[in-house]
Amino acid sequence: NTGALWGGRFAGGPADALAALSKSTHFDWRLARYDIAGSKAHARVLHKAGLLDDAELEGMLAALTRLDEDVASGAYTPAESDEDVHGSLERGLIERAGTQLGGKLRAGRSRNDQVATLGRMFLRDHARIIARGVLATIDALVDQAKAHRGVAMPGRTHLQHAQPVLLSHHLLAHAWALLRDVQRLADWDKRAGVSPYGSGALAGSSLGLDPEAVAAELGFFSATHNSIDGTASRDVFAEFAWITAMIGVDLSRVSEEVILWATKEFSFVTLHDSYSTGSSIMPQKKNPDVAELARGKAGRLIGNLTGLLATLKGLPLAYNRDLQEDKEPVFDAADTLEVLLPAVSGMIATLKFNTERMEALAPQGFALATDIAEWLVRQGVPFREAHELSGAAVKQAESRGVELWDLTDEEYAAISEHLTPEVRTVLSTEGSLNSRNSQGGTAPAAVERQLLALEDELAGV
Ligand code: ARG
Repeated sequence: NTGALWGGRFAGGPADALAALSKSTHFDWRLARYDIAGSKAHARVLHKAGLLDDAELEGMLAALTRLDEDVASGAYTPAESDEDVHGSLERGLIERAGTQLGGKLRAGRSRNDQVATLGRMFLRDHARIIARGVLATIDALVDQAKAHRGVAMPGRTHLQHAQPVLLSHHLLAHAWALLRDVQRLADWDKRAGVSPYGSGALAGSSLGLDPEAVAAELGFFSATHNSIDGTASRDVFAEFAWITAMIGVDLSRVSEEVILWATKEFSFVTLHDSYSTGSSIMPQKKNPDVAELARGKAGRLIGNLTGLLATLKGLPLAYNRDLQEDKEPVFDAADTLEVLLPAVSGMIATLKFNTERMEALAPQGFALATDIAEWLVRQGVPFREAHELSGAAVKQAESRGVELWDLTDEEYAAISEHLTPEVRTVLSTEGSLNSRNSQGGTAPAAVERQLLALEDELAGV
């Protein structure tokens, strides 16, 4: 059983079936360089505690540096017989430092506190990469919003025409949601930045080691205050999975709109050739595959979250081997977003908007009915009655197959004496938009203030 991390109390090695089941090097090898960084920090606290002399520390660190270089270059890879990244790296260390010295490193630590720490290091690095990708997507939305100042489009509820809104207002709505995702990642980091190293298997160490020193060396804010929690909790992983799932959902919602907008029926956008795909049989096709993959991958990200939560729900304290299943869902979440985000931001940045069509459709489908009702309210008509009167105008227009602005002064007067020709001041997209100048509203001036507020918050993340 050479190379295994345990074996003293066993008469023989594990069955092949167990070894195959137990093995994790094919996915946890990505933690190798974090493992070595942890080993260096651990060697230093062993030295500080008097368990390695100066020469031993120097020899240990030199061997770990050589191992790290060999891992980085690919010269050192896990062997078939290695169970996990931690065991494999101990083998690699012993090959370089000798059994006597290499065998000293494992004192006072366990794979349980190691793996919990390395996972956090990995996720913290990837959270930063993901945040940058989300910020690039926000930038693409903001740039499009700025490039299309003042352009109106149909605002929808229930996918039906509701009220005209500015295209920039609509695009920025997606930007705000994504901005909150970036803020979530930043807030998550406060909890992820606590190091479990020094927790040992579950109960801490008797060797006088200094977990705060390890934590500081590995870039954490502090070390855990509870070794059982340090080794057994994975809520930090689950929260990462939730945030990445939320990012997936937010990207999916923009993408669904791009898919709709790119249809013949909407014809609101044209996808750039470099962000659309063709068909192997239909020569005319131009498909929104980026957006569809974003929508599809949101499902995968949600699956990673629910799978991880299911793994955790029945686990008694402290470490259980089930926890080996914590890594693939969060690794996959990071990989998925890291490949998806650049494609989505590129797709958005290169969208061409058919602004003429959007503007033309903006007031249609009686989308100015609310403006009539609110105009009546400003004339002193109770909203309940105003709503009825505006509804009667819609009914009249619909029966004649025309829009609200096509009704004659006489037709309005016949509905109510309150509906004087003055009502026409609000019967335009421009009038409707300009009137919604409250904070968060869709008036051009309000959207300018919104842009400043968004840029302010962006500067703070
Ligand atoms: N590879 C394991 C994991 O990923 C760490 C090993 C802990 N194993 C153990 N038998 N205590 O969780």
